[in-house]
Amino acid sequence: MSEFPNLTVLDHPLIRHKVTHLRDRRTPKKRFKELADEIAMLMAYEATRGLGVEEVEVETPLETTVGHRIKGKKLVLVPILRAGLGMVEGILRLVPSARVGHVGLFRDESTLQPVEYYFKVPQHAEHRDFIVLDPMLATGGSASAALTLLKERGAASLRFMCLVAAPEGVRRLLEDHPDVPVFAAALDRELNDHGYILPGLGDAGDRLFGTR
Ligand code: PRP
Ligand code: URA
Repeated sequence: MSEFPNLTVLDHPLIRHKVTHLRDRRTPKKRFKELADEIAMLMAYEATRGLGVEEVEVETPLETTVGHRIKGKKLVLVPILRAGLGMVEGILRLVPSARVGHVGLFRDESTLQPVEYYFKVPQHAEHRDFIVLDPMLATGGSASAALTLLKERGAASLRFMCLVAAPEGVRRLLEDHPDVPVFAAALDRELNDHGYILPGLGDAGDRLFGTR
């Protein structure tokens, strides 16, 4: 059995190709953002596979037939600010009706502990499916805190999607939130002494927003 039963690495050839460009230090800011969206969109196709559907009648130009639609209240995407914003547009291209909540967390660079500064999600969390977004799962502190905040609001159907995961972060989520499936485009080797993922792609927020 895998060490990480909570983890699905979505290693489709297109995703692997795009992740390589994302890692490349020479990739400019504009292309970095486009790649983050493209990868998130491809990942969302798989990460939403388990959503429930219900039958619905549809009239074709020739007759009435039975089709399907996604069941229940609208899906909610929850980017962890800032860097999670880089994945939202790509997924909205696939699921335009999804709602978007926001969790503001930054990682204190000396303690590596997450600090909360914003939280806003749609009502009726208990009846919704959530996908929490963050390009980087490093120690897992930020992701774990975001999932805890959502559970405190009543959310019961949660998925976590990241571009690059460190084993340390996946393990932390398995311990804190074993019920939450984790989807990653790549599982990297380890964290360095500053909590950065190796080989990783650097600071995702800085690369997305040009703030270094
Ligand atoms: C980065 C990243 C995650 C977090 C990952 O955000 O986007 O949110 O660090 O680290 P962890 O798994 O050890 O918690 P950062 O705190 O740099 O904030 P930013 O998105 O505003 O740049
Ligand atoms: N946050 C980032 O943006 N990159 C890392 O490698 C770790 C945390």
